[in-house]
Amino acid sequence: MLSFFFKGTNAMLEKLKGALQQRYSTKVFKAGEDIEEDKLQLLLDTLPLSPTSINSQAWHLYLISNPAKKAQLAEATWQSNQDKYKDSAYLLIFCAKTTFNRQDLQDIEQLTADIRDIEVNEARVEMLNNYIGSMSENERQEWLKRQVCIVFGQFLTTCALLDLDSCPIEGFDTKAMDQLLGLKEKGLTSVVSAVLGKRDLSDFNTLDKAQKVRFPREKMITEIK
Ligand SMILES: Cc1cc2nc3c(=O)[nH]c(=O)nc-3n(C[C@H](O)[C@H](O)[C@H](O)COP(=O)(O)O)c2cc1C
Repeated sequence: MLSFFFKGTNAMLEKLKGALQQRYSTKVFKAGEDIEEDKLQLLLDTLPLSPTSINSQAWHLYLISNPAKKAQLAEATWQSNQDKYKDSAYLLIFCAKTTFNRQDLQDIEQLTADIRDIEVNEARVEMLNNYIGSMSENERQEWLKRQVCIVFGQFLTTCALLDLDSCPIEGFDTKAMDQLLGLKEKGLTSVVSAVLGKRDLSDFNTLDKAQKVRFPREKMITEIK
């Protein structure tokens, strides 16, 4: 029984490693080509499972497939990213909340209490309120943006596991993006974007044409035993 478990675990880890080795940032998408609906739904289901600091979950995602809206938002990106926005099946804009206060903490603790059928932990609300209160406004915004990046990293890994072609895209003007999506009024700001779709045959970044470039593990990881 145990050996079966470990066999399964190894197979899963091999699959994960293989998926991460074969994923790459798709640079040219086939216009008008959709992705599998079941894969998209699975991907969306996994996003709220991402961990965030103090379970803040202060992020929001815009998933855009409307061609006119994608073309409009492409105006906020660098020239080199514009066709990716237009030709991919989905454009995703990952946003952070612009405020995070006692009420947000209260909402999380209320949800925790509801789900676990316990009392709201007021002492925890107080303690966390002191924690977020110890940050300057700028620090708090940076902290909120970092949480979005955690969701984003999980998103990229899940795309790899689902064998979905994607490209992470940071190359856009956040002010212009916020304006085009009317984010300020919603208490949000754009942090990072991504596109999903099917690679075009002309994509110059596939692994057979552009081998993956990474520093060796020894350079990146220091073990202190
Ligand atoms: C946060 C982030 C932002 C990125 N922004 C862009 C971008 O604006 N345009 C682009 O073509 N690629 C972008 N990339 C892709 C990187 O250039 C790419 O991940 C890196 O070169 C490694 O290549 P690989 O993803 O194919 O393994 C971004 C990647 C990340 C993680």
